[in-house]
Amino acid sequence: MINGAQCIFNPSGPAEPCRIVVLGATGDLAGRKLFPSLFTLFKAGHLNPESRITGCGRGEMSDDEFRRMTEEKVSPDDSEGEQWRRFRQLISYHRLDFNDDASFAALAAGLIPEEGKPAVNRLFYLALPPSSYERAATAIGRAGLGREDGGWSRIVVEKPFGHDLTSARSLNAALHACFNEEQIFSIDHYLAKETVQNILVFRFANAIFEPLWNRQYIDSVAIMATETLGVGHRAAYYDTAGVIRDMFQNHLLQLLSLIAMDPPARFEADQVQDEKVKVFRALKHISSNHDDLAIGQYGNGEIDDGKVAAYREEPGVAAESTTPTYARITAHIDNWRWRGVPFTMISGKRLEKKITRIIINFRRVPHSLFKDILADTIQRNKLIINIYPDEEICLSFQSKVQGTHLCLNQEVMRFAFATGDDQIDAYGRVLLDCLNGERLLFWRQDGLEETWKYLDQILARDNTSRPPGQTLAIYAAGSLGPNREEKLLRHLLTAGKQ
Ligand SMILES: NC(=O)c1ccc[n+]([C@@H]2O[C@H](COP(=O)([O-])OP(=O)(O)OC[C@H]3O[C@@H](n4cnc5c(N)ncnc54)[C@H](OP(=O)(O)O)[C@@H]3O)[C@@H](O)[C@H]2O)c1
Repeated sequence: MINGAQCIFNPSGPAEPCRIVVLGATGDLAGRKLFPSLFTLFKAGHLNPESRITGCGRGEMSDDEFRRMTEEKVSPDDSEGEQWRRFRQLISYHRLDFNDDASFAALAAGLIPEEGKPAVNRLFYLALPPSSYERAATAIGRAGLGREDGGWSRIVVEKPFGHDLTSARSLNAALHACFNEEQIFSIDHYLAKETVQNILVFRFANAIFEPLWNRQYIDSVAIMATETLGVGHRAAYYDTAGVIRDMFQNHLLQLLSLIAMDPPARFEADQVQDEKVKVFRALKHISSNHDDLAIGQYGNGEIDDGKVAAYREEPGVAAESTTPTYARITAHIDNWRWRGVPFTMISGKRLEKKITRIIINFRRVPHSLFKDILADTIQRNKLIINIYPDEEICLSFQSKVQGTHLCLNQEVMRFAFATGDDQIDAYGRVLLDCLNGERLLFWRQDGLEETWKYLDQILARDNTSRPPGQTLAIYAAGSLGPNREEKLLRHLLTAGKQ
């Protein structure tokens, strides 16, 4: 119990001791997210002080050099000095080259216990370029590090999991050659955000929403994740992937599945996954109706009063690139509950605001008894689930304005998550779940394959039916996306503002 709350997962003490191996430990993800989150878990008492963390990269570096590099990224403040001193002792560095089996053998020597010695738990985190995942998994397997001999061995795979259905299956085969499904943790850190986790509690622990949660009462659903950032240092990957692979295959379709799934009988990882997969299977292939799909690419413009370059001028992007940085996909779920309810998913880079939000638009009242008095039609009720920057749930409804005249106004009831003393962010949570073997927040292979099947037909259509360069609407950086999308985006961005 936390302050009278009923808890399902509430790991109190530290996780079991473990050897954590971060492959790609010198990269952006490791520096910005993984090591800061590991330090937070350590401070909160979740990371066992008997654990050890090995950072791996291709260059030569001493343990101390790597610790100093990590310290710069984590930047502990003065009050954390003593905790940092103890944490840094857990860290070491190992040079690893996928073409050099000897470097893996040397890593294995420290991770496989000698006979008679206590068993070792191992967690491998692939913070590598996606093109290296298969080789890394195979090398780990060849070194015998996937075998569970007394202790457990787990592997964490970052997004993107493949480039399409074929490559996702190939990566899966490489992983399954050395690990079984329970050992593989395909991560989507979006799922660890408070508001996202709250969707299932909100839907299934309250009796009042579920009876309305269907085509009879819900008119449409919008799911948006917009960014102000450009492609940054990820051009090499992004220019071959684009926004649909980068954002829709994982984050947006995961959010869609949480909104659309049926209740599982129990709150258990496999049962929740079963229900999500049923949603993915019910996604209707996009029709020839072009209104279901819009794509664009950012041109130059202004963000926060500063000029920014067009996508095609970014370092590492091809000058003639036709990679979309904006997409809208209107999905249709062909089942009893959702038939006819559009789920509009939008994501884009270099847009006016960074916002992640889900909007449930309810149907209008069937008959307005105020229609003779009020010129305006009565606005719909909306349920808005804000994920970023605010973490809150808002319900809009009509209310009478105080006074002698009958005037209606839209009011908003808000529930905001306190940004209180729980400092463990989404990456910290997924890392903790990996350490505890809790699989609820991770992908299962059948779900991954279903999402790729859905997106492959969209991408194939886009690649084949429209000549390169003519399919994209170029939009100004800092704007509301392509011209035809502006009105919709403005509407979604201002929803719930009172
Ligand atoms: N950055 C993010 O915010 C973010 C968010 C979500 C997902 N991801 C995913 O996380 C993974 C890592 O992203 P990142 O942004 O950290 O990339 P990054 O900054 O390019 O770092 C990649 C790391 O991999 C190592 N590396 C590069 N090429 C390698 C090769 N051929 N063989 C072995 N090691 C190699 C590099 O280390 P050395 O050069 O020292 O070997 C470096 O430490 C990617 O799959 C990305 O899609 C990243």
